[in-house]
Amino acid sequence: MKRILDNIINDSRDSANTGKVADYIPELAKANPQALGICVTTLDGKEYYAGDYDTKFTIQSISKVITLMVAILENGAEYVFSKVGMEPTELAFNSITNLETSPQKRPLNPMINAGAIAVTSLLNGKTPEDKINTILNLTRKICENDSITINEEVYRSEKATGNRNRALAYYMKSNGIFDGDIEEILDVYFKACSMEVTCRDLARIGAMLANDGVLISGERIVSRDICRIIKTIMVTCGMYDASGKFAVHIGIPAKSGVGGGIMAAVPRRMGIGLVGPALDSKGNSSGGLKALELLSREFDLSIF
Ligand code: DON
Repeated sequence: MKRILDNIINDSRDSANTGKVADYIPELAKANPQALGICVTTLDGKEYYAGDYDTKFTIQSISKVITLMVAILENGAEYVFSKVGMEPTELAFNSITNLETSPQKRPLNPMINAGAIAVTSLLNGKTPEDKINTILNLTRKICENDSITINEEVYRSEKATGNRNRALAYYMKSNGIFDGDIEEILDVYFKACSMEVTCRDLARIGAMLANDGVLISGERIVSRDICRIIKTIMVTCGMYDASGKFAVHIGIPAKSGVGGGIMAAVPRRMGIGLVGPALDSKGNSSGGLKALELLSREFDLSIF
């Protein structure tokens, strides 16, 4: 396995070189575009690594999976999906267009920025600190890693420049999609995106989903039904407007982030975490996608 992963990373480095590090959040532009790493966690707890697997990066949109999980645990799936849809979109992750054209003007799904901000507005907790602590603690628990923290520089950079997200939030508020203080909701969203992880942490999240809500330690975190909902939405919306091509070529429930991470869950087999900060035009890791494609082919991982 180790040798296969080494080869996969080496064979994916050229693809990483075709991508570009996200710079619309200024702090992300400091990432090393050449970094490329992978961790695979099998459901019996074995971990395999290759490449720059110890690179730290911010979880970014992969946090949308955790936030959705918290919102469903606190409010039930029916309520959450009365506020946000479950349909894919051919538009970019930060597009505003669908908020005007979609039925009921609600965000199309919880994986695009508008949808994740709407989901964040549903979280219980008296203060923004309570809400981010719930997300952070669940992430630590799933990753079995208490040292996960928020990267303050990335958080501040997002907060200072996140005007597209502000626009999405104000537009949704004007349409009555949610109530509440927008800066407080965005603060929780920006902090969740700024949690700093490694590909080992992402592999653990993937393994929990692959194992229908049960950690490697045997502890159940969420129900099988919540995992089913989340994995389905990862398939249809997790890689944004590249989700269809990804399903055809790779075929694994997955979620990407502009920090360069990809988290993937192969049902009943393994969790996979990848890092490669150089992104393609859709905001997905170029090298990570190539590595995942090679891994999927090597072990016949497509669920289809
Ligand atoms: O809100 C943003 O734009 C970022 N914090 C997260 C976007 C993201 O990760 C999209 N993923 N590919």
